[in-house]
Amino acid sequence: MSSNYQTRRTFCIISHPDAGKTTLTEKLLLFGGAIQIAGTVKARKAARYATSDWMEIEKQRGISVTSSVLQFEYGGCHLNLLDTPGHKDFSEDTYRVITAVDSALMVVDGAKGIEEQTKKLMEICSQRKIPVITFINKLDRECKSPIELLDEIESVLKIKTSPITWPLRSGKSFQGVYDFYKKVFAKFDPDKERPEEISVEGLKDKRWQDWLAPDLFEEFQEQTELVQGVYDKFDAQKFLNGQITPVFFGSAINNFGVEMLLRKFCEVAPAPSERLALERIVEPGEKDFSGFIFKIQANMDARHRDRIAFLRVCSGNFEKSMEAYHVRLKKKFRVGNTFQFMASQRTQVEEATAGDILGLYDTGDFKIGDTITQKENLSYLGIPSFAPELFRKVILTSPLKSKQLHRGLQQLCEEGASQVFYPVNTNDIVVGVVGQLQFEVIQFRLEKEYGAGAKFETCAYKLARWVLPKPEHKDKFQSTLDALARSYDTLLSKDAEERWAILCSSEYALNKAQERFPEVTFARTSELVSREG
Ligand code: G4P
Repeated sequence: MSSNYQTRRTFCIISHPDAGKTTLTEKLLLFGGAIQIAGTVKARKAARYATSDWMEIEKQRGISVTSSVLQFEYGGCHLNLLDTPGHKDFSEDTYRVITAVDSALMVVDGAKGIEEQTKKLMEICSQRKIPVITFINKLDRECKSPIELLDEIESVLKIKTSPITWPLRSGKSFQGVYDFYKKVFAKFDPDKERPEEISVEGLKDKRWQDWLAPDLFEEFQEQTELVQGVYDKFDAQKFLNGQITPVFFGSAINNFGVEMLLRKFCEVAPAPSERLALERIVEPGEKDFSGFIFKIQANMDARHRDRIAFLRVCSGNFEKSMEAYHVRLKKKFRVGNTFQFMASQRTQVEEATAGDILGLYDTGDFKIGDTITQKENLSYLGIPSFAPELFRKVILTSPLKSKQLHRGLQQLCEEGASQVFYPVNTNDIVVGVVGQLQFEVIQFRLEKEYGAGAKFETCAYKLARWVLPKPEHKDKFQSTLDALARSYDTLLSKDAEERWAILCSSEYALNKAQERFPEVTFARTSELVSREG
């Protein structure tokens, strides 16, 4: 494998459940030669259920809870695909994956258009200026008109579209797609493993008559002329700035349109670029190794009862058994076992470069957001803890297991599965999550992995904010905390990392607190707090 970071394309797929993310992943791997037979990814989904009891939840619900990393090669590029959990309840985990990618592939179900989950994920991509390529899937089914779909993307997702290919009809009369740039027509034939692609000299080429009936060709010519006049031409810079998304049409299940997408993806998707650290901007081509932890996952596989910390390499080259520096712990360590992942297989990593993802064995030393370097003091920014939206009080059902409960909650917090708050004036423990299903996962894992039976009780809190002193009022911080501790509108608490936070029952209460305490910021994410604190 080449150690040139410029060949790396590190990306994720964002979509609403059922749009075809798994199917597309499988086809990308197939074209990348990483798997031989379609069906492997689905088989992987099924095999995983059998190998970890945590996956029982996935099995029961038929959803994908975990993320993994897949690698494959195509057209001289080394692609790292970070899988994102599809269920809406696991959005926090998915958000973090977005912090570790350089681009995203958005899959839209052509019959349904833009759905809720896609909208949420696109918001994050826009905030982070992540370039997005769009694949409109399931053209073999009756779909909305392509113009309607593009207009929907533009109005709902607030991003300009630039069609690279254009479909002629959908469903039973789906004919194929035309690539405006390569001037290639791919004819749809569900029986073909790879679609036939025919080069044509633009739309005036006489040979069109061989493939399309005159009325169909006329329809197509009219449409494409109109489309080329209306939509923006592909502009690489606007794409990299996240202002425009190139759009492809196809049918993943029929391998159709996937290779056109993959080819263009390798051509335009960005290689790793500079990353912002608190101290300075870090370039991917720098000699020294650095990266950050964006995900921690326990018990990925019952055969290896372990915790894996996923590290995104941001600069330099990693070599097996090298010595690295854990910035938060101010500690040197030898990076022992590191893994890369291919389907359900783990392989030992010999070397890796910027853009690659490493799985590090974690004995409890890593937290999400940690920076690991060769020797420099660097802290990568942009891996926030999101403010949870749902809160429950934890009630221990086995009173003698209090220690296990605390340990379990602490570790689940470090994995980013939840946030824990300890109100200062009571002995309560409040858990906050982004999606309802996470409570079930936590309850299940506390019981199975830590032997701490617990249940959750509803509580009045709806918002959490981290309390951050404004630099000019640092000296008043303690007196503000004392006043907050006495306030009825807010519940002053500490989170698992001993950072100050408040819980409030409404936006109104939060606004009131902000009016009363202008000398502090109530931050939506804990990122700034941990850096400053
Ligand atoms: P997800 O990961 O985004 O949740 O979606 P997934 O790929 O699992 O696809 C969801 C369903 O849509 C699957 O059907 C899949 O076969 C189907 N699908 C994916 N791509 C296409 C396409 O291009 N055309 C059509 N017609 N269907 C497509 P299922 O019935 O839920 O599963 P299965 O029984 O087919 O495995």
